[in-house]
Amino acid sequence: MTETAEFHDRMLSLGLSRVSEAAAIASAKLIGRGDEKAADQAAVDAMRTQLNKLDIAGVVVIGEGERDEAPMLYIGEEVGSGEGPAVDIALDPLEGTTLTAKDMPNALAVIAMGPRGTMLHAPDVYMDKLAIGPGFRDGVVTMDMSPAERVSALAAAKGCSTGDITVCVLERPRHEGMIAELRTTGAAIRLITDGDVAGVIHCAEAEKTGIDMYMGSGGAPEGVLAAAALKCMGGQMFGKLTFRNDDERGRAEKAGITNLNRVYTRDDMVTGDVIFAASGVTDGSILAGVKREVGYLTIETILMRSKTGSVRRMTYRNPTT
Ligand code: FBP
Repeated sequence: MTETAEFHDRMLSLGLSRVSEAAAIASAKLIGRGDEKAADQAAVDAMRTQLNKLDIAGVVVIGEGERDEAPMLYIGEEVGSGEGPAVDIALDPLEGTTLTAKDMPNALAVIAMGPRGTMLHAPDVYMDKLAIGPGFRDGVVTMDMSPAERVSALAAAKGCSTGDITVCVLERPRHEGMIAELRTTGAAIRLITDGDVAGVIHCAEAEKTGIDMYMGSGGAPEGVLAAAALKCMGGQMFGKLTFRNDDERGRAEKAGITNLNRVYTRDDMVTGDVIFAASGVTDGSILAGVKREVGYLTIETILMRSKTGSVRRMTYRNPTT
């Protein structure tokens, strides 16, 4: 009986890594081919096939879109064998479709799973995001602060100058004002063209990636996935949905969101234990991309559990036939 089966995150986590690995392998065939749609479709098909092999009663809460927009892995789709715990699934089979099509860094296959009812049903709108890594007091940076104030506050907490802070931002015209303000602080800005799940994860490994803080607006679904990752790795994240029109406000209402001005913390977006897996598609600063060698492929995956804070990095060697 699925409703009562326990969420055995430890047992399920390896299965989850197989799901992201399969999506990465499938989309890797389309790296650099200039076809975003084909790369995404390959990842979706492979992820769905693997997901359906897991003994879970899963429901996609963050997926490829509304039922009428996405034939597979749509929001509300039931996945898994149906035997096992009732879980919420957040996924992005190919986070960085353009990065893949253009063979640019940091494209990932991403999935998170938690007990049923523990993940924010984020509509497909933008979310204003702010994230920092672990080790700082709660609220050291807030959504109420201006971009420059956030840099000053983080520098003070780190005991460094604002010029020693690096902020990651999606390069978009809508961020021009924010970038100009950040420049006045002397902080460095790592501009990324896509892939803000990776952008946020960078903050949790600041020593390795050189990124201290993430800010700016990107997809709300990607925000929930990033919150799941930070819940496992440590770090603070805030997100506020933004709406450009009534259609977008309607999407939020349909998703059951009543307070359209709410600032969500990391733990508001993911309220329970969560497991998170991401596999590299193209090479990046978090994970290596899929490599082809004679006779096999290698895929790197990061697999994490919030309950223990465990972070595994695994290299999977998959014989090609
Ligand atoms: P896709 O992989 O779906 O193309 O998303 C990439 C991405 O860069 C996300 O990481 C980010 O949240 C979103 O697109 C930003 O949206 P936009 O391109 O509209 O600014």
